[in-house]
Amino acid sequence: MRIFDRQVELSAHLKSVSSANTTIGFVPTMGALHQGHLSLLKESLQNNDFTVISIFVNPTQFNNPEDLAKYPRTLESDVAKIEKLNPNIIVFAPSVDDIYEGKTVSQHFDFDGLENQMEGKFRPGHFDGVGTIVKRLFEIVQPANAYFGEKDFQQLQIVKKMVEKAQMPVKVIGCPIFREANGLAMSSRNERLTAQERADAAVIYRTLQAAKMRFGTENAKRVADYVTDVFDNVPGFELEYFEIADEATLEPITEKIEGRQYRAFIAVFVNKIRLIDTISLN
Ligand code: PAF
Repeated sequence: MRIFDRQVELSAHLKSVSSANTTIGFVPTMGALHQGHLSLLKESLQNNDFTVISIFVNPTQFNNPEDLAKYPRTLESDVAKIEKLNPNIIVFAPSVDDIYEGKTVSQHFDFDGLENQMEGKFRPGHFDGVGTIVKRLFEIVQPANAYFGEKDFQQLQIVKKMVEKAQMPVKVIGCPIFREANGLAMSSRNERLTAQERADAAVIYRTLQAAKMRFGTENAKRVADYVTDVFDNVPGFELEYFEIADEATLEPITEKIEGRQYRAFIAVFVNKIRLIDTISLN
């Protein structure tokens, strides 16, 4: 299996194996791979001649230094999982220096307001960091198709916007959320939960499903009050936000408009570990 830790070497390799008639599929990750990541790789393998995965814990997208320090780094087991899935997958696992060349700062982006909602409100600078690294990685890998999980739905919309504005020839493809048996959305951060917290965290998706049911007959304010009430009564869980927003603009709903697609978004702290999830309401 080919593993590269320097962008110049990866670029040279991709240049030597690909041609105008071949496509590169790309799955950017921060490692600690789970079934959700593997499903993105499978989608890429099915639809491209080459598949590249990046494993890079990007410092500029972390607004909380403790979150960055504690983010799981499991390169060896990640590589084993990739090799088991398909040894032809090309791995790019660069150092911070190789990517940022001594200047570990974000570029500033205008994502037409998508960046000011939800995660953008609670994680200042986060989407500038995501935009910076994804743009950098797209320039290095030059994929035809790039795969992102819908758990980070706001990130998915922002990457699509970045590609559109920068006119990059990359198709950004959103893939369905993978869930544990109890409904908890798969996330690298789940590794930091105790077994009990992981079991209890089923409440997040359960509440989203109940919110979806209620949204059929109740207004958004009442649904949000219900969700707040649920988490007020779950010890150890702290609701950061629950929002019902328009899928296209990510702006909070003011009134239900026929024909618009709505989605609920949630962020919850479980003993300082931040979990997010989302559900389509249509
Ligand atoms: O979703 C992630 O894991 C990260 O935000 C990404 C897209 C790999 C950029 O660092």
